[in-house]
Amino acid sequence: MAIELVPLPLPASADASKFTDFGREVRGVDPGSLSPELFEQVKDALYKHDALLFRDVRLTPEQQYALTKAFDPESESYGHGNNKTESTKKSILHPDLKTIPRVPQVQLIGNGTVYNHEGLAEAMLKHPSHTTFHKTRVTPEDEAKGITRFYRWHIDAALYDLSPPKVTTLYGIHIPKGSHQICRYDDGTGDELEVPLGTTAFVSGKTMFDILPKELKSLAVRSKVRYAPHPYVWMAPAHAMPTGLGIESEGLELPLSELPHWEEERRKVLPVVWKNPVTGNLHFQVHPCGAAELIVDPLPAGATREGALYPDGAHITELKEVRGLLYKMQRPAIAPNFVYPHDWRENDLVLFHNRGVLHSVVGAFTKEQVRAFHQCNLAASDDPTGPTEEQVKAYA
Ligand SMILES: [Fe+2]
Repeated sequence: MAIELVPLPLPASADASKFTDFGREVRGVDPGSLSPELFEQVKDALYKHDALLFRDVRLTPEQQYALTKAFDPESESYGHGNNKTESTKKSILHPDLKTIPRVPQVQLIGNGTVYNHEGLAEAMLKHPSHTTFHKTRVTPEDEAKGITRFYRWHIDAALYDLSPPKVTTLYGIHIPKGSHQICRYDDGTGDELEVPLGTTAFVSGKTMFDILPKELKSLAVRSKVRYAPHPYVWMAPAHAMPTGLGIESEGLELPLSELPHWEEERRKVLPVVWKNPVTGNLHFQVHPCGAAELIVDPLPAGATREGALYPDGAHITELKEVRGLLYKMQRPAIAPNFVYPHDWRENDLVLFHNRGVLHSVVGAFTKEQVRAFHQCNLAASDDPTGPTEEQVKAYA
């Protein structure tokens, strides 16, 4: 028996040529009870297509945890370490996470008040809104007209001590109906994207790398990011860019001395591009909000220095410069034609390759619009690997 893979329907805004391999609907199997053989096919498809959709799914939190864990059997705790630090009120993730009591690796996320849900008598959920995170905001008048923004482009990862999860599973249980919204970039480009209400937006990290000009590909394959310790606490007082792609440099981050206890050796230093374990392709995988420093290797022997950035290597610690370089490399790939905004239906299950895509919450709900999702990802048993020596040579 084989799984059936069908391309995902793309919105008119998408450049179809950039989505030939991205995204598949999986038909004919129940993701809650896959045989080992079928699971291997699903796993292979995930790494080849980065996002998989199953429709009309019934999935218990136990089944969702088991499915998520199967991608990395040695992983066990929630991607943010079962909320030890991120549940502190200081973290910007605090209001977004509610744990299912029976299965603490599965989080209830959404909007509005949910009653008698999987052992939770009453859970007040709030869809994250750009109005509390971005430096500027859409005016209330424009919001009333359905104008919105990307909330925060990210990888699901604690980015401190724990390794970025390999896969995230998102199960849509209650989905309020509503009209489309316009996601505005508000960065002077005039870019905007029509999106379904409460979409989850995805971009491919592979496309993010592939569309870079030569000198930025060279920089990307030679660079590593050092993340701030407890990045979500560190960034909490700061404000995001209007595109949701990183933080404005205003010096508002919490000083390192004021963070909860941290140790230098637990800080994450991760390659800018991660090698896909199945295809070998390179994906540009940086969580721009948490990035604190860039460590650039010198050009490899034999590479041409003409036009090369930081040919002798560099350790860039100036936040504004770090963010400026990352923004220059990441912004092209969140252009409207490269975004896949998923149009959620009830009982959709989306699995995404968290080490191959970036994603963002989008849109705004009213209090009365109740939405409930189960989300699961697990801190991985290893760190992602960067490009091989041959790949560095090929792109440097
Ligand atoms: Fe996420």
